[in-house]
Amino acid sequence: MLGHPMGNPTRGQDPAIQTRGLSRSFGSFVAVNQLSLTVAPGTFLGFLGANGAGKSTTIKMLTGLLRPSAGQAQVLGHDLASDGVAAKQQVGVVPEELALHDRLKGSEYLTFVGRMYGMQRDVLQTRRGELLDWMDLAGEPERLIVDYSHGMKKKLALAGALIHDPRVLFLDEPFEGIDVIASRQIRGLLQTLLGRGVTIFLTSHVLEVVEKLCTHIAIIHRGELVAHDSLEALSAGVLVQGADGETRPRTLEEIFLGLVQAETSETQTLSWLGNDE
Ligand SMILES: Nc1ncnc2c1ncn2[C@@H]1O[C@H](COP(=O)(O)OP(=O)(O)O)[C@@H](O)[C@H]1O
Ligand SMILES: [Mg+2]
Repeated sequence: MLGHPMGNPTRGQDPAIQTRGLSRSFGSFVAVNQLSLTVAPGTFLGFLGANGAGKSTTIKMLTGLLRPSAGQAQVLGHDLASDGVAAKQQVGVVPEELALHDRLKGSEYLTFVGRMYGMQRDVLQTRRGELLDWMDLAGEPERLIVDYSHGMKKKLALAGALIHDPRVLFLDEPFEGIDVIASRQIRGLLQTLLGRGVTIFLTSHVLEVVEKLCTHIAIIHRGELVAHDSLEALSAGVLVQGADGETRPRTLEEIFLGLVQAETSETQTLSWLGNDE
C-alpha cells in the first residue's frame, strides 16, 4: 500500500505518533502487548512504567531500531515499516544506551550526525556552534567524548538528536544519572522545543520531573497500556485528602502506584532491621 502523497493537504493533521496493536515478543515473552496510542502534534508525553514494563522496547519500535512482532506504527503519517526513512528524517532520538563514538570530539560528533541527515554545511555549522555553546563546551573543543561526564554525554546526545530540527523527539530516560544543573538545562531546552510545537515522547522514572514538564501521561504496565490522558484529566479524576485535611487532586505518584499496584508493600520490612518479635 502506498502512503499519503507528499503533497497531501491533510498531512498537517496527521497525529505525531500513532500505533495500532503494536507488539513485540522476545521468544515466548511478550514485552509490549497490543499497544494502541495516538499522540497529537505538540504534545509532551510522559511514558511511564516500572522497570521492565516495555518503555524502551516501545521507543525502539517507534524509532525503527527494533521491528515489531505485530501491529503498526506511524510517525507524522509515515508508516515505519514501509516509509521508515521519511519518518526518521523528522525524528530525533536519545536512546537509553547512548552510542556516541568515544574517540570523537563533541563538535566532530555533531558534524557526523548533521552530515548523516544531509544538512547544508552553513546551517550545520551555525547549529553546531549554538549547541556546543548550550552544552558549555565551546571553550573546550579538543575534549574527547570518552572524557565527558555522564551529564555532558546526555547533553551531547540531545544536541545530536536536535541538530536537524526534528518535529518529534524521543527521549529514553534523559534524566537518568545526571546532576541538577544538567537536568535543569535539559528541562529548559525541552520547554523551548515544546513552545515551538515539537512533539516530545519521554520515558522517565523521575515522576516529579514528568509532572512538571509533561502535558500528557501514558502508563505501561507489563507491556500493556493502562492509562493515557492529559495530566489534568488523570489527576482530576479522584480527589484525595491531604495531610492538612483538605481535598486535593492526586499526585502523579499516587496515580502511577494506583494503576501499577506497587508489588512491594510499604509496610514490608527486613527482618534484621529490628522487627523483633
Ligand atoms: N533483546 C531482548 N531480549 C530479551 N528480552 C528483552 C530484550 N529487550 C527487552 N527485553 C525484556 O522486555 C521487557 C521490557 O524491557 P524494556 O522495554 O527495556 O523495559 P523498560 O524500558 O520499561 O524498563 C523486560 O522484561 C526485558 O527484560
Ligand atoms: Mg528502559
